[in-house]
Amino acid sequence: MSQNPYLHERAYYFNEATDAYVFNLTGVAKPLVLPGTVVRDMVKGYSNLGEGGSVNEIARANNLPRGWVTQVLRHLSVTHDGLPFTAEELATRPSADLEAEGLALKGANLWRSLERQSWSRIQEDALRWRNLETSILRRFPDAPNPAPTRLQIPQSKRRFAVVLSPTDFHWGKWAATEEGAQPYNRAVAARRLKEATEQCLANILPHGAPEEILVGVGSDFFHVDNEAGTTSGGTPQDRDGNPLDIIQSGCELMVQYVDHLRTVAPVKLILMAGNHDHLLGYCLLLYLAAHYRQAPDVTVVLSAAPRQYTSYGETLLAFVHGDAVARTQDIARLASIEAKSLWGATNHRVALTGHLHYEKMEDDRGFVRYQMPSLSGTDRWHMRHGYVGSRVALSAILIDHQAGVFGTLLSSESPPNIKAPMPEKSPYRWVSQDLEGRQEYWTPQAAKAARLDTDSINRVIRGKRLTYNNRTWRSCGEWEAL
Ligand SMILES: [Fe+2]
Repeated sequence: MSQNPYLHERAYYFNEATDAYVFNLTGVAKPLVLPGTVVRDMVKGYSNLGEGGSVNEIARANNLPRGWVTQVLRHLSVTHDGLPFTAEELATRPSADLEAEGLALKGANLWRSLERQSWSRIQEDALRWRNLETSILRRFPDAPNPAPTRLQIPQSKRRFAVVLSPTDFHWGKWAATEEGAQPYNRAVAARRLKEATEQCLANILPHGAPEEILVGVGSDFFHVDNEAGTTSGGTPQDRDGNPLDIIQSGCELMVQYVDHLRTVAPVKLILMAGNHDHLLGYCLLLYLAAHYRQAPDVTVVLSAAPRQYTSYGETLLAFVHGDAVARTQDIARLASIEAKSLWGATNHRVALTGHLHYEKMEDDRGFVRYQMPSLSGTDRWHMRHGYVGSRVALSAILIDHQAGVFGTLLSSESPPNIKAPMPEKSPYRWVSQDLEGRQEYWTPQAAKAARLDTDSINRVIRGKRLTYNNRTWRSCGEWEAL
């Protein structure tokens, strides 16, 4: 094919006098004029014998559009595996000079490669750390667990300890007003525990700070014991949420409770396996043992035995839920066998039990059983069986170091639940909660605005779920005064 003498031999023009390259690029109206230094850097930057960079990196380094760089490199016939010099450099520079620069580039290239590998490892490590942080560490924000600030409480004239144990708390139980039951759910439970603990502490602390607070872990703290949402024995339960959420929120609440007590005195945690949470009660104990592993003021007695024994001063303390072994005389006999050393070393022997949700004291030849009340109230099962009227409370049992138990205190009763149907002009609002725990308040006006009729709201009140705003809501069980 004949060559037109007026055509330039390359796809670009190099002006030797001004050391500039001229390119006619597709889609660009005017010629692109690049200084020779820029073009030579681009070639070195793209060649694998140079920096081995990408088109994007070269475009960013020279502040040029990516499409222009692609065309320039194509016009220069530069490829990754080509030499790091322009055709003009190869034609004009001495071979020794190019050789020396080529060797220098090779050394620099090797160094960059090592740097890239090192940076890549740093990035991988950073990514692994971020994954660990987001998936695990943020779920345990307090680890290692810092001690809450201890309150400045005057020294007590007597040495004493307190059993402050929310037995039969039934976290995750759900009760509405059906069949005359008292509304109960996690929102109600958490509020009752907080208020009852504050009331008990307010009555204890005028006597000064106790030396120790003992807490039974389990004892129907959880309402259900498995993913099927049943008790340990397999009885289905009305639940406030799915079992996994109940477990996680229950563990977190127990940590809040223990931290609250730590502001007053060191805390000792002892298993009290219940018939609703025989397995999860022990899991909760393990969770607390792990959470407080570095806390010198929290002692966790790690034992899975169904009856637990400890002592304070001259008093033997037996922690028993009270379902399998219930009678005071039976617990006393077992304690004399299972804790014979403590039995012989103490002058007073008591048992702390729960299970039946009402306060009771029973003396069997000096072995005294304190049956502690429950904060969970009366659900429809209790209504059907006639277990009604018991006081909803948290008890505090005070134990003198030498003289043994010298008093029991009860938190004051929670405000009565209001069970009236929703009036048109209500001074109250209904608290409802979606399945992720987000709360919403319902009033007659809000219902109208949401185009919900009173029947829909009442369906929530009666305990049935209601889908609204793409979320499923259920009642929190109580009216709140506006
Ligand atoms: Fe119970």
